[in-house]
Amino acid sequence: MSQPNTPAASARAPRSLTGIKPTGMPHLGNYLGMIRPALEMTTSHQAYYFIADYHALTTLRSKELIQRYTTEVTAAWLALGLDPQKTVLFKQSDVPEVCELAWFLSCVTPLGLLKRAHAFKDAESKGTDINGGTFFYPVLMAADILAYDSDVVPVGKDQKQHVEMARDMAIAFNHYFGNVLRIPKPAIRPEVATIPGTDGRKMSKSYDNTIPLFLPTKKLRKAIMRIKTDSTPLEEPKNPETCSVFELYGLFATPDRVEDLAARYRAGGMGYGHAKQELFEVMEAHFAEPRDRFQHYLAHPEVINDILSDGGKRAKSVAATTLSRLRSAVGMESDLTMARK
Ligand code: ADP
Ligand code: TRP
Repeated sequence: MSQPNTPAASARAPRSLTGIKPTGMPHLGNYLGMIRPALEMTTSHQAYYFIADYHALTTLRSKELIQRYTTEVTAAWLALGLDPQKTVLFKQSDVPEVCELAWFLSCVTPLGLLKRAHAFKDAESKGTDINGGTFFYPVLMAADILAYDSDVVPVGKDQKQHVEMARDMAIAFNHYFGNVLRIPKPAIRPEVATIPGTDGRKMSKSYDNTIPLFLPTKKLRKAIMRIKTDSTPLEEPKNPETCSVFELYGLFATPDRVEDLAARYRAGGMGYGHAKQELFEVMEAHFAEPRDRFQHYLAHPEVINDILSDGGKRAKSVAATTLSRLRSAVGMESDLTMARK
């Protein structure tokens, strides 16, 4: 399928877009699986990264928590190196145009597609209380992606299906209304597609097995010491390939040090406690400065608000242009709606 030939889309660098819900302090899985790859893409792509507060409403029912987590997630992006001059960092709800786009998309989306969404099926199988928002979630996420003519969407593996659904919705919409939506692709790094948590399952807020970012030194060490390992005795050789501690170490340490630790696993005579201590040291060194910056941003919420507000304006102007294009494609262009933008 060819891409819409809008001036914005043809003459520019590819655009990367991603979002993260403000539902808690970001954790190591978020960082390694999505935030770090997304930050790396900011040098080669026009980056649009946002705090998905509308999506958080499917599970959060507290104004204070939504605001607090929005501030924390924004502070985390900034502390980890996002440059708000180069990247458009914004709050999803500052661009309500995405809700209008979600409606347009929902009208070309078969019910069966939404029923096949893993997140919905999981919620259904657990018998948890499912609201309309949880069911509609992939449509709003598709709108987030398509509103900014995104080319690539850096995410962890658990979000792959959602990005593919966004592609399906864009293709369906283009089929009925002409070539107006750009078709996005997920960008998933295989080596960080699913980061293990402290119990060996996927690290996730919902499993209570996370290592939150920016833990103070002592708590970070404690969290790392809790990572589950097998019961191979200290003196015996160990397999680095099946060990979460080694997997995480490999994502922080230099190749030489990784090779060295692998050799010590295989040789035997080294306990998992030693490997955990090395992981702690390399992570403490990696996060010490970002942790200070994070605290600095938390102490200056006005800086965060200014950055989000500036990003929101820039994002809104792009989404408004896309929506005008779509309104016109579906036959709903009018002076009133154009004036609204
Ligand atoms: P959680 O599962 O803890 O609620 P989110 O759904 O907020 O995490 O995820 C935000 C981003 O981080 C998504 O792109 C998601 O794919 C990525 N992510 C979350 N957990 C992991 C993980 N364990 N490994 C790799 N990526 C992850
Ligand atoms: N569903 C994503 C998550 O849970 C958050 C999200 C919302 C998102 N809209 C998006 C991610 C658009 C990428 C693109 O992590």
